[in-house]
Amino acid sequence: MACTDQTVQGLLSGSINELNDSLKMQHQTIENTLELTGHVVYADTMEQLIDIHLPYINLALYPREVPQQLNDFIIGLDLDKFPSIHGNLNCHEIHTLLKSSLRNITTDIEGLNLFIEDIKIISEHFSAITGTKFIRFNLYTVESNLCKYFHADYNNLRLLCTYRGEGTQWLLNEDATSSSGRRLDNIIDRDRIQRFETFWVGVLKGEAYKNNKGNGIIHRSPPVGKKSAKRILLKLDA
Ligand SMILES: [Fe+2]
Repeated sequence: MACTDQTVQGLLSGSINELNDSLKMQHQTIENTLELTGHVVYADTMEQLIDIHLPYINLALYPREVPQQLNDFIIGLDLDKFPSIHGNLNCHEIHTLLKSSLRNITTDIEGLNLFIEDIKIISEHFSAITGTKFIRFNLYTVESNLCKYFHADYNNLRLLCTYRGEGTQWLLNEDATSSSGRRLDNIIDRDRIQRFETFWVGVLKGEAYKNNKGNGIIHRSPPVGKKSAKRILLKLDA
């Protein structure tokens, strides 16, 4: 059966019409009722990632699963053919660029449509959550661990989703504090390291976010072992 845009949309997340209004209402409700017990929010929906704006919260995670068809598509990709896609783009431009950039990487058109639609939906939510029309968009494969030390970034909001391979690692604030400050890799109890699973969507709050200086989420790329494994990473910045 042909996979139309409508079935793709239905499989992934349903309509996102009037997303902005809905997000504002939900956020108001959540803000009124949420008892803050930590600095991390686990979201039940993509919309709830808007909780990243709450004071003291520096990580909003959506631990999701994706349709098996999308999982199979990702596993089947030849990553040597996978392009790097970058740009300062609105959501429509992202969709158009993905269609043209990825059309030659596979013959599985249904799987490709699911992949593109998934990224489009994530981008639309990120745009709505951050109030940013033009997103700094990056979709690429990573083989090295360029950011191998735990650190906080001096940025605003960043969304990460690893489509293939190990996800980003992060620390609870209490585990990232030492007598001399924070961000010291060699004091970390390895058992306390937290991880994004593959396909999870996370919004990280950095040190440049208003009133968040000193509270940027501490994170790093997953360490690369002797046997290197390419990852597919989606990174969106507002
Ligand atoms: Fe970073």
